[in-house]
Amino acid sequence: MRRLFPPFEYPTAPTLPGPQEPPSADRPWTLDEIADAYAYPATAAEGAGETGRAARPWLRGNMVASLDGAAHHGGRSQPLSSDADMRIFGVLRALADAVVVGAETVRREGYRPARRREAFAARREAAGQGPAPAIAVVSASLDLDFSLPLFTEPPVPTVVLTGAAAPAGRQEAAREAGAVVVHAGEGSEVDPARVPGLLGGHGHTRLLTEGGPRLLGRFAAAGVLDELCLTVSPRITAGDAARILDGPGFETPAEYELTSLLEEDGFLFSRYRRSPGAARK
Ligand SMILES: NC(=O)c1ccc[n+]([C@@H]2O[C@H](COP(=O)([O-])OP(=O)(O)OC[C@H]3O[C@@H](n4cnc5c(N)ncnc54)[C@H](OP(=O)(O)O)[C@@H]3O)[C@@H](O)[C@H]2O)c1
Repeated sequence: MRRLFPPFEYPTAPTLPGPQEPPSADRPWTLDEIADAYAYPATAAEGAGETGRAARPWLRGNMVASLDGAAHHGGRSQPLSSDADMRIFGVLRALADAVVVGAETVRREGYRPARRREAFAARREAAGQGPAPAIAVVSASLDLDFSLPLFTEPPVPTVVLTGAAAPAGRQEAAREAGAVVVHAGEGSEVDPARVPGLLGGHGHTRLLTEGGPRLLGRFAAAGVLDELCLTVSPRITAGDAARILDGPGFETPAEYELTSLLEEDGFLFSRYRRSPGAARK
């Protein structure tokens, strides 16, 4: 893997003994190096540290798209992915307090609980995090199989984000399975703008959403998508798969700025952050 952006700047005067390796060199990266490269902003972690300041939830999205913009192939994202993409996917999970995901992605991709990984145990403990991120499923219908391990066997309880008027029997089934049901709307729908604050109230401020496109579209339209980690896969698919954001178009394109670009095997791993003060809709 190599870093393409920000570019490496050679020091104008030698300050260190011996040669320095440009970070753009193509070599395998350790999981720790990837984790450092994708660290959440300090403001998302303040509550867990010793500063005593309240943390501001930070919502990061992580998606993969084909060169022609498809967000899946045959209903799965795996055909667009690579080993390096899955490595980054795993690291982004390991850095998060909670992974927010739309119910259709849970149904189609057969979501399981995030697992505890030894490689990140010390880092998570030092960051004041539990053994693995909670999965937070967004659903209005609650048409989910609550007998699955995602709900019955997670290392930390799975959260179900829904509206207060979602089917009461399904809410009860979720609770009986061990999930934490959080209301984020008065009808059956979730108000996406309320999600970061509500999860923050449950101690989850380092947030990662893995989509899918309809949920990501809702988050972006609500102006709460702080960051987008986008993998561009060197594959083309044509067809009618959704783009990574699926929903009504914005009145004005929202501005994001590039903060990092990595490359491995022709896959580009970009990281964009919402521009301060940019139009959001
Ligand atoms: N390229 C990638 O990185 C990537 C990532 C993830 C998924 N995918 C692909 O995307 C496809 C699925 O994505 P999708 O866009 O169809 O669905 P999605 O965004 O995963 O889920 C949509 C569902 O989420 C729930 N939902 C979304 N917004 C809601 C709101 N405001 N209030 C209440 N519930 C809400 C609804 O669930 P209910 O129907 O239960 O009410 C809705 O049907 C799959 O093929 C998957 O492989 C690709």
